[in-house]
Amino acid sequence: FSRFFYFSRDSLMCENIPVSDIVKKTGTPVYIYSKSAILEKINQYKEAFKDYPTLICYAAKANSNISVLKIFQENGLGLDIVSGGELYRGLKAGFNPQKIVYAGVGKTDEELKQAIEAGILSFNVESLMELDVLDSIAESLGKKANVSIRINPDVNPKTHPYISTGLKKSKFGIDMEDALKAYRTASKKKNLNIVGIHCHIGSQIMDVSPYREAVEKTVELVFKLKKEGINLSHIDIGGGLGIKYRPEDSPPSPQDLAEMVIPIVKETGLKLIIEPGRSLIGEAGILVSQVLFLKDKGEKHFIIIDAGMNDLLRPAVYNAYHHILPVEKKGETVTADIVGPICETGDFFAVDREIDNVSRGDYLAVMSAGAYGFSMSSNYNSRPRAAEILVEKDSFHTVRKRETYEDLIKLEEEVM
Ligand code: LLP
Repeated sequence: FSRFFYFSRDSLMCENIPVSDIVKKTGTPVYIYSKSAILEKINQYKEAFKDYPTLICYAAKANSNISVLKIFQENGLGLDIVSGGELYRGLKAGFNPQKIVYAGVGKTDEELKQAIEAGILSFNVESLMELDVLDSIAESLGKKANVSIRINPDVNPKTHPYISTGLKKSKFGIDMEDALKAYRTASKKKNLNIVGIHCHIGSQIMDVSPYREAVEKTVELVFKLKKEGINLSHIDIGGGLGIKYRPEDSPPSPQDLAEMVIPIVKETGLKLIIEPGRSLIGEAGILVSQVLFLKDKGEKHFIIIDAGMNDLLRPAVYNAYHHILPVEKKGETVTADIVGPICETGDFFAVDREIDNVSRGDYLAVMSAGAYGFSMSSNYNSRPRAAEILVEKDSFHTVRKRETYEDLIKLEEEVM
């Protein structure tokens, strides 16, 4: 997996620290991120796009911990947000608003207002109605809003249907046929400033060819707009690069993406924006959990751990595969379902998985959990959310404390 998670003899390490040393102090379940792994990914992206003017906007939704955001901010990246909450976090982490792009089909008036006031680089507008509303809110604030139209290129990214966003039948973006109309409308609005064009076709994309189709269609539109006197500054091609979840996976690299898209974008001379989330942080994080019980039910063997679908939702929602490693290697293996404590059959991490023959009290690490792990977690079954730890070389810091029972009810009021 990531070279920052490796076995030294029989112990799983994160950078220079044995994972077991961390979890003995922090308790479980716990998310552990490697700062060096994140930096390595940032550098891969920077290196791949260095010869073309590109702004890398990290997709905050993948992992929005403020310390994680700060790493991206300090390394010069921009931010891709989808809510007022992410704008708030982004500004707290010190991002320059001129490096923030904002997508989403359902932005509220309040959210639009906050982002106009912040002066963000681009609203990636997803409907004609949003254009009207954005214009009138900008007018009421006496400001101009920067807009790009999110087009829906009708491209199949060949990934899980729940994370395919660029198909015509999906709720995202404006269809190609209507995009020209949207730009014409936008160009007439006094309080809108057209800056770019946006598309995002999906996530966990394992083959870069769908990007070519999407970017070609986008570029075609850029030229049509130019003919009409509508000039843009940037093309934003979204995120979506896949990562390694199975040992045999070989996802495309940032270099592969750059080689595919830059030659096409170059024809326009426009700046490029990319919005990677998962590929910047996914492999840099693990979820560590302790074995609570072992249980045999005839043919089936169950390993019950103290993390649940409230901590990591991906297996339950997308039937996603996550590799699972023992924190201390055991000699033999067994075939088992690795499940959580939640009262749902969907609360599983692995089915019929060959895994080290762990005992009660041992620790298991769910790999590639840095993206869409903690950020999708909940308090279901009144489970306090896990702690988050950031490791750098020989030291580690708690970047989010484990929630307490008081946290669970602190916003609730008892009606007498
Ligand atoms: N830009 C936009 C407009 C997006 O909607 C997304 C992700 C991204 C960028 C970042 O995509 P990435 O590089 O992370 O693939 N919860 C799902 C993934 C949902 C992705 C939603 N949009 C999962 O756990 O697989």
